[in-house]
Amino acid sequence: MSDSQNPGLSQATLSAGSSSVELPVHQPTLGAPCIDIGKLPKATGCFTYDPGFTATASCKSAITYIDGEEGVLLYRGYPIEQLAEKSSFLEVASLLINGELPTKSEFASFEHEVTHHTMMHEAFKSFLGGFRHDAHPMAMLVGMLGSMASFYHNDLDLEDPEQRRLAAVRLIAKVPTIAAACYRHSIGWPLRYPRNNLDYTTRFLHMLYEVPSEPLELNPVAAKAMDLLFILHADHEQNASTSTVRLVGSTGANPYVCVASGVAALWGPAHGGANEAVLKMLNQIGRPENVQSAIDKAKDKESGFRLMGFGHRVYKNYDPRAALVRKMTHEVLGQLGVNDPLLDVAMKLEEAALKDDYFVQRKLYPNVDFYSGIIYKALGIPVEMFTVMFAIARTAGWVAHWLEQQDDPENKIGRPRQVYTGPANRDYVSMDQR
Ligand code: ACO
Repeated sequence: MSDSQNPGLSQATLSAGSSSVELPVHQPTLGAPCIDIGKLPKATGCFTYDPGFTATASCKSAITYIDGEEGVLLYRGYPIEQLAEKSSFLEVASLLINGELPTKSEFASFEHEVTHHTMMHEAFKSFLGGFRHDAHPMAMLVGMLGSMASFYHNDLDLEDPEQRRLAAVRLIAKVPTIAAACYRHSIGWPLRYPRNNLDYTTRFLHMLYEVPSEPLELNPVAAKAMDLLFILHADHEQNASTSTVRLVGSTGANPYVCVASGVAALWGPAHGGANEAVLKMLNQIGRPENVQSAIDKAKDKESGFRLMGFGHRVYKNYDPRAALVRKMTHEVLGQLGVNDPLLDVAMKLEEAALKDDYFVQRKLYPNVDFYSGIIYKALGIPVEMFTVMFAIARTAGWVAHWLEQQDDPENKIGRPRQVYTGPANRDYVSMDQR
């Protein structure tokens, strides 16, 4: 939708039967105006119906802006392409939660603080030991983050901004440690403690890969690629998992369980689970010659099959993140000397879909996760861990939104309405009469 349709709209009139109501219109800094329907039920006795919230803004936010038609993504006003090229994930995390790019000394103090909150309580080891070796790491991550609330709850005062900020820092700091621990548990390796002399992303890779028996030789492109993927996945305004964090946060719940609920929402294949689904799909397609039959199957509604990594609720243009990931995929495979036939399958699939009327008419383009799995695979990250990578990055966005929400004077408990379609009032019938 183009915002030029109604550029200066300040009021909208809605009539329902005999009643009519003037509704105020909110003007965003960028994007389409939003009609405020708050007065509607009182004035007309009606609610609105919007499954999937495709037409509804749930909050005001100053964190991220997306123009899906133009393929634009801004974090706090900065284009994702500039951040991808010039920034680091930790700087982006600071930008997201604080609103401005940090000065040198602000960044140094943020980095120091994050670095010194990366340790987990030793009791976490026994929680982790309770999981079966084949537990999905996303299931472990949800559980581990939920249990973090038990360590930081009794003395937590959510009215205190400093305590809220510290919770956000702790989450950004500890999620990689927990994620790496979940992975190592699943393969039976001893846990590695975080090393403070490394930067955020390199430290995470060390916790993931380092074995006690020999030093880790890490190709710098691994940290570069991972940091880029973290930047690109850090926030995406009111997506399903962020909206989940906000919904849980609206009740005043503990921030660690808010983020655990975000991880749960992220796991689904329509959301963050897509990167895992893409690689499975590419493996099934197997060879470039099989691409056309996959395209045909995706167009056939009866098949129930969709092209994973294609399409987006908001982007009706090339996802700007996908272009950056595609470029990095070539760099990573080139520098690591990996020849992955799945890249040929992916490129052929993209080319064929972008020429096909079905995908063109529906404006279905590759999304951020179309190529990310190929990078993860080249870095030796198992498929089940792909969505965990996404969760590490999105933690920055989740906590930024949670902080913003806690400070928002308009924040109230999220409580949607429904169109009731069940039976009307009826009398109980005793069991022997049914
Ligand atoms: N393959 C084939 N057809 C598709 C695809 C796809 N990947 N995505 C959408 N369509 C079709 C739908 O069948 C529908 O067709 P119709 O109009 O003939 O009924 C039309 O395109 C619109 O699709 P919707 O499902 O209404 O679009 P919506 O905005 O609700 O869904 C979504 C977006 C969930 C991302 C969808 O495109 C999809 O399932 N993609 C595959 C999964 C995926 O990659 N998810 C990751 C999203 S990015 C992220 O979370 C990081």
